[in-house]
Amino acid sequence: MTSSSAPGKIILFGEHAVVYGYPALAVPVTQVQATATVNKKSRRGMIIEAPNINLTSELSSLALDHPLSVVIHGVYSALKITHIPACTLYIQSTIPVASGLGSGAAVSVAVIRALSEFLGQPFTNEEVNKLAFEAEKIYHGTPSGIDNTVVTYSKPVYFIKKKPIKTFHVGVPFSIMIASTGIAAPTKESVDSLRMLWQADKPLWEKVFTKVGEVVWNARQAIERGDIDELGRLMDANHTLLQKMNVSCVELDHLVVAARIAGALGAKLSGGGRGGNMIALVEKEKASDISRALNKAGAKRTIVTQVA
Ligand code: MEV
Repeated sequence: MTSSSAPGKIILFGEHAVVYGYPALAVPVTQVQATATVNKKSRRGMIIEAPNINLTSELSSLALDHPLSVVIHGVYSALKITHIPACTLYIQSTIPVASGLGSGAAVSVAVIRALSEFLGQPFTNEEVNKLAFEAEKIYHGTPSGIDNTVVTYSKPVYFIKKKPIKTFHVGVPFSIMIASTGIAAPTKESVDSLRMLWQADKPLWEKVFTKVGEVVWNARQAIERGDIDELGRLMDANHTLLQKMNVSCVELDHLVVAARIAGALGAKLSGGGRGGNMIALVEKEKASDISRALNKAGAKRTIVTQVA
């Protein structure tokens, strides 16, 4: 038996603009995890069990463009394996689906690692990341690759599409509260709708993305210096730009305002938007007040993650 787990993630700054080549900052969220376990079995072929998505299927019955099928066949083809060994793949995840926490990327990474280990040829992080990116194309359409990268390496990343991965230094640890709207929002939809806007007026949107890029760069500097107040202001600025991109929604805006009123230093949507999660920069002593205010404002759950 082999087993592997991968964390969730949040994007701190720069979602959406990152698809167009601008930088973004993201960190792993280890409180939530996807786990894949591969067991030998006596019958032929592979059985996949993923109770979170109500899936029990033979690999041979899954559509070839199903993300799990892409990931598994990607592993076999990278290892040049043509005869599929008899096994059961069990996938369990505590990461809510379509919530901006990178559940698809975490499942892909956990499966790729567990399966390649089961086959006796564990992949390097670079190989894992490359294969997970192929599945992201199905989840997202035109992904930047940030989700699979932060989940694979499980460390803070300063990410620019198609550039070598860079991490960043955290001057003073800080706490981020993640609040779920409870609305499942596939990233593909918000990415596709922004692409239509961009296609209709590229100069306008490149200007907006350039502003996002400046916010991201300033945020990286603020994180490195440990300037938490500036970091909060930059989160607010990034949220305003995301609203302009039409990827926020009433529920997210409501949580952002509630967090700020309750004392958060800054707040924004995180990930694809139109649902999913909001993140807020919180000081420890105010965390329970802010969590209470967010629950009252409709948050379905809150988690605090430390960026260190
Ligand atoms: C999704 O977590 C982040 C987006 O920027 C899409 C992507 O980068 O692929 C919205």
